[in-house]
Amino acid sequence: MSMQIFRTKHFAVTEQSSHALKRCLSAWDLAFLGIGAIIGTGIFVLTGVAAATQSGPAVILSFVIAGFACTFAALSYAELASSIGGCGSAYGYSYVAFGELCAFIIGWDLLLEYSIAVATVANGWSGYFTNAMAAIGLALPEALTKAPQLGGIINLPASMIILVLMSLLILGAKQSAKANNAMVFVKLITIVVFITIASFNVHPENWQPFMPFGWFQTLPDGQTTGVLAGASLVFFAYVGFDAVSTATEEAKNPQRDLPFGIVASLLFCTTIYIVVAGLLTGVVNFKELNVSSPVAHALSLLGFTWASALVSTGVIAGLSTVILVLYYALTRIIFAMSRDGLLPAMLGTVNPKTQTPVRVIVICGLIMSLIAGFIPLGELAELVNIGTLAAFVLVCFGVLVLRVTKPDMPRPFRSPLSPLIPVLGMLSCGALMAFLPSITWLRFVVWLAIGLIIYFAYSMQHSQLADTEQS
Ligand code: ALA
Repeated sequence: MSMQIFRTKHFAVTEQSSHALKRCLSAWDLAFLGIGAIIGTGIFVLTGVAAATQSGPAVILSFVIAGFACTFAALSYAELASSIGGCGSAYGYSYVAFGELCAFIIGWDLLLEYSIAVATVANGWSGYFTNAMAAIGLALPEALTKAPQLGGIINLPASMIILVLMSLLILGAKQSAKANNAMVFVKLITIVVFITIASFNVHPENWQPFMPFGWFQTLPDGQTTGVLAGASLVFFAYVGFDAVSTATEEAKNPQRDLPFGIVASLLFCTTIYIVVAGLLTGVVNFKELNVSSPVAHALSLLGFTWASALVSTGVIAGLSTVILVLYYALTRIIFAMSRDGLLPAMLGTVNPKTQTPVRVIVICGLIMSLIAGFIPLGELAELVNIGTLAAFVLVCFGVLVLRVTKPDMPRPFRSPLSPLIPVLGMLSCGALMAFLPSITWLRFVVWLAIGLIIYFAYSMQHSQLADTEQS
């Protein structure tokens, strides 16, 4: 496929009203979208789980390792976002670098990443919301807070938060970004409160033993443990900076602002994570942290119950932004794939009034709301990780391929030290994939196999690119 065809498909169609999204997002909106998607379950929940069961206090190293892998990938994303554009993110970049089949596979993979992440985080959100309601004397009946498999009827809060955010996304990207910015502010305040209190209550003896589970080992049940396995788990905390790259067609100045949004949000969150992980394991013993809300729990143990309640509020706001931005990214990937003919064309239209892809927002919202309401999804963070890591490997590889095949393509942002950085990105993200348990690999392969069936049964025949090349 030639670059020309790709650019025609992805840029010219945006000028037609039924396919044009509204350019309304500033550089700071993009950075806040990144922070909105990044800080959530990973830091507020998984840090504790990883510290207690995989890394011990060395969870800080797990965050550093995952942070490096993401920084390499983010620089590659920034280069391709500035030079290729399109709202399809890694899907669009793979289209240019590797062709349609690979692009479809990675697009399909991104659907897994974003949809499972949304439903998983909605389940986490529901837990916090239910606890907060109980705390103010408005406890919800148990049957309405649990999926049938767990003895309830429906997880209503998980279902409802997706529908509420669906309405927001329908209203428009700018409105969604404004709500996101406000909620990001709340979650950052809670993190500042935690950091301030924890800084004065560190007991260095809690950092001993520093690495109780070693670097890596596979347990008899197929699960993995150690600092590297911890890095593969806490990688979930970084998922979402790539979502910024799906906003290309709604950014006011994508070539300049997208690299800023991607890199700034990631570096900011990486710093926060390392500080929070260090403090959390410094204020209480890591064995105490295998709970649903380790940050709030640590504050309670220190006797700061008011701060613990404040953190819970921050988590509710924080998880809302994660759901919002990942849901947004999901709709833009589907939008791009359907505009290219790889998914049904009816998903690729824009409502002329709101200038948002309303149809795909509603369909995704209803499906994910049903999934979140009726299927317990607490354990699927690692499936999100494997899908995201696979996309990162391909994006890094795409940078290398395009530097050779399209050396003259304008690159307003160039990843520094190429080819070193993309190669390190591929190696580190590939290694994090390798440290994931075998059951996660199995689920991932099954998902990709379903995708291939859909590609050969439907997408190949309906591809717009195939039409363009034939005519
Ligand atoms: N990074 C997001 C979170 O931690 C997905 O919730």
